[in-house]
Amino acid sequence: MDPRIGIFDSGIGGLNIAAAIRQALPSERLLYFGDNAHVPYGERTAEEILAFSTAITTALLNKGCRAIVIACNTASSAALVPLRERFPEVPFVGMEPAVKPAAEHTRSGVVGVLATRATVEGRALADVVERFSQGVEVIRQACPDLAQRIDAGDFDGPETEALLRGWIEPMLARNIDTLVLGCTHYPLVRPLIEKIAGPDVRVIEPSEAIARRLAQVMEERGLSASPGATGGLTCFTSGDPHVFSKVLERLGLSAGDVRQATWDRDGSLRFP
Ligand code: DGL
Repeated sequence: MDPRIGIFDSGIGGLNIAAAIRQALPSERLLYFGDNAHVPYGERTAEEILAFSTAITTALLNKGCRAIVIACNTASSAALVPLRERFPEVPFVGMEPAVKPAAEHTRSGVVGVLATRATVEGRALADVVERFSQGVEVIRQACPDLAQRIDAGDFDGPETEALLRGWIEPMLARNIDTLVLGCTHYPLVRPLIEKIAGPDVRVIEPSEAIARRLAQVMEERGLSASPGATGGLTCFTSGDPHVFSKVLERLGLSAGDVRQATWDRDGSLRFP
């Protein structure tokens, strides 16, 4: 049976979003694609990220998907607006750093955002800060290498911890009390982030909000699966399928075998 919702990320990070969607919409058939061959997107140009995202969207639609979730902040920042223009009939749900809830929650008036370099330098984050910060100071910290490290399965190693300390401790010194995870890979190292940030800092990530938004969009477009339908998750990767198993297990997701998708020389993506 055709999948109904296509979800993609540069790697395993978007599986956090897939897990929240499985929980919120158990009757939907989900197809997840991790572009592990091209991770990290955060160190690429907006043009490259848009080219990958367009090819992935085309392949997901060809597989039968009716809605697309861009489970990657970096790809959402570079590609959400142009993809909506290019595929006007397709509902897209994208990521946006959770600056709004952070600004509402903070008492110290200082919040931190951890994200990839491309997201920190992109227009989408600047826009949400402009729209929602309301006088709150938003410290934006790029975390080069972190997503790639997580994608390679390092969730709690000493080098990852040292990198995170180097980014988070200066923010603590500036009195943040709220920390936004602005990359879908980062919830996979949330325990480490919480250990470094300490109990007085609230860590915010938006996977449940994204799942709720998707449910709303499916409903509005009349695309929701009938309640009794059997949902499920199928995963494809352009990289090594083995990296997925650890994360699927950690997130309590059952997805069967992770399958290989291939990038063709002409820049198109092929699912088996
Ligand atoms: N998971 C992606 C994000 O949410 C990006 C990681 C990367 O490929 O740099 O930004």
